[in-house]
Amino acid sequence: MRALTCEAGMLDDLMPASLDSGPYTESDDRFMEDVSNCVMQDTLPVLIGRRVLLREPREDDAVRLYEFVRDPEVTRFLAIDPPASPDDTRFFIEKCHEHRRQDREYVFVIADVATDQSMGVIGLRHLDPPMRTAQVGTWVARSYWGRGINAEAKELLLDFAFGTLGLHRIEARIDVDNHRSRRAFERLGGRREGRLRESFFKNGGYHDQDLFVVLEEEWQNRAGLEPGTGRRAGKGEHR
Ligand SMILES: CC(C)(COP(=O)(O)OP(=O)(O)OC[C@H]1O[C@@H](n2cnc3c(N)ncnc32)[C@H](O)[C@@H]1OP(=O)(O)O)[C@@H](O)C(=O)NCCC(=O)NCCS
Repeated sequence: MRALTCEAGMLDDLMPASLDSGPYTESDDRFMEDVSNCVMQDTLPVLIGRRVLLREPREDDAVRLYEFVRDPEVTRFLAIDPPASPDDTRFFIEKCHEHRRQDREYVFVIADVATDQSMGVIGLRHLDPPMRTAQVGTWVARSYWGRGINAEAKELLLDFAFGTLGLHRIEARIDVDNHRSRRAFERLGGRREGRLRESFFKNGGYHDQDLFVVLEEEWQNRAGLEPGTGRRAGKGEHR
């Protein structure tokens, strides 16, 4: 799998020399400043896998995403409710752009690598550069469940988070009844660290969530990445 590439050959311009050449040793602020200036200022990079790619959400994704996310089974364990109209989804997409510009969240559309048609959404939220942590959140249209789409999207996102962004710890908060999500995260090597009691308010009630975590070193060992580079061990190219 190619871990990272960009639209219209942008990657070479976007990758800071410091990330190309190895682990970064400057302060956290400088680190995130460089990353966001070089990688995230105008658009998210396009992360290309075997069957899916991750890219910036676009206005023309709104209708399709709306049709997927209005399914209450998709939002059952999410903090959001089904949108009322495509305009709500357009507003969501605008917010994604705004939050990316502010380096608050990096939200990607999961799209079919052959057709560029959207299948879901995946993102890093609660980015905390000094602590080098973030939370991952994902939803996939129900018609695509059970095919490994989420698994491949998470692999691309975690390579990006640990490799390009240099994060150290990625968390997922999973409702205790969300067995599908739990199974999927465990298959990726996520470890359960504990129960967050009544941490999720939905449909007028509080629900418990489990905290699952993947650490940088665990991911690098699993994925065969060279520490701090985002490169597959033994490969010279960041693609
Ligand atoms: C959570 C969610 C993204 C998981 O999707 P998913 O399709 O079950 O996850 P995966 O992509 O990892 O697919 C795993 C399943 O596909 C199967 N599969 C088929 N081909 C596969 C492949 N090439 N690679 C991996 N798994 C494959 C696996 O065997 C597994 O089946 P199982 O669930 O019967 O064990 C999805 O259920 C969803 O969008 N839920 C609603 C939103 C939500 O709750 N998000 C999580 C909030 S914490």
